[in-house]
Amino acid sequence: MRSTIIMTMDTTSRPVKHTITPQMVIEGAGVKLRRSFGPTRSNPLDPFLLFDNFAFNNPQEGPIAGFPTHPHRGIETVTYMLEGSVRHRDSLGNVGLIGAGDVQWMTAGRGIMHEEMPRRGPSGLIKGFQLWVNLPAAQKMSPPRYQEVKENEISVVKKDGATVRVVAGEFAGVRGPVTDIAAQPLYMDVTLDAGATFSLPTPRGHTVVAYVFEGAGLFGKDATNTEAVKMLVFGDGDSFTAQASPSQPVRFMLMAGAPFKEAIVPYGPFVMNTEAEIYQAFEDLRTGNFVK
Ligand code: FE2
Repeated sequence: MRSTIIMTMDTTSRPVKHTITPQMVIEGAGVKLRRSFGPTRSNPLDPFLLFDNFAFNNPQEGPIAGFPTHPHRGIETVTYMLEGSVRHRDSLGNVGLIGAGDVQWMTAGRGIMHEEMPRRGPSGLIKGFQLWVNLPAAQKMSPPRYQEVKENEISVVKKDGATVRVVAGEFAGVRGPVTDIAAQPLYMDVTLDAGATFSLPTPRGHTVVAYVFEGAGLFGKDATNTEAVKMLVFGDGDSFTAQASPSQPVRFMLMAGAPFKEAIVPYGPFVMNTEAEIYQAFEDLRTGNFVK
């Protein structure tokens, strides 16, 4: 018997662990959203808490209600628009418009009050995403801050049939403009030409999810066939892999981040670590101490 020594790279592609079909929900003053997941105490996608897809595809729906003034505490919200825009205004005195291709990364920290009002683009459509990322206990009461990134400041990497807009994290040596985020997340908008393959190293133990919103492709170790619109949750491994269908491109938002592994107590727009901290948030609102 011949003995051989096989050198292996010992790297494994992450499998698709499960697939989420986004559910239509009504939020704010009557805004229709596709929600893939929301905050829960079991926190299965730690550090990611919520992922919504604004999808106003029919101008017949009438005026858009938007999200009138509301508070946040203990989280970061990331708004990324594809079409149309969101006008926002907040308790720090910021007023602005998040347009197509722009990103607003808001660290609510100890507290912010804001309103978010979507507007249709020239095509009549509004398309965009809002992701909530948790803050670790030590930063939940940090001062609020914003990182606003215009469309032309987001690096686009074109490589082997992949077009990647890097919002946060790094791809092919290119770093996204959003930095100093507690969860050190990766957040990218990826389009693969028909048949193109894509691979990205992802640290073991990190949470990895992909929101497939256009086209179809094969995802993960088992080449799980996936058609838009689906949220894919990946099991552990060393890399994320995807391949577009041979007959059409595929486009997805890719998110990866290190879990904080802390207990959370979510309540509406607040995500804290204990019930007492949730009560404190309401008390601060009631006594006018929420925003200082
Ligand atoms: Fe908000």
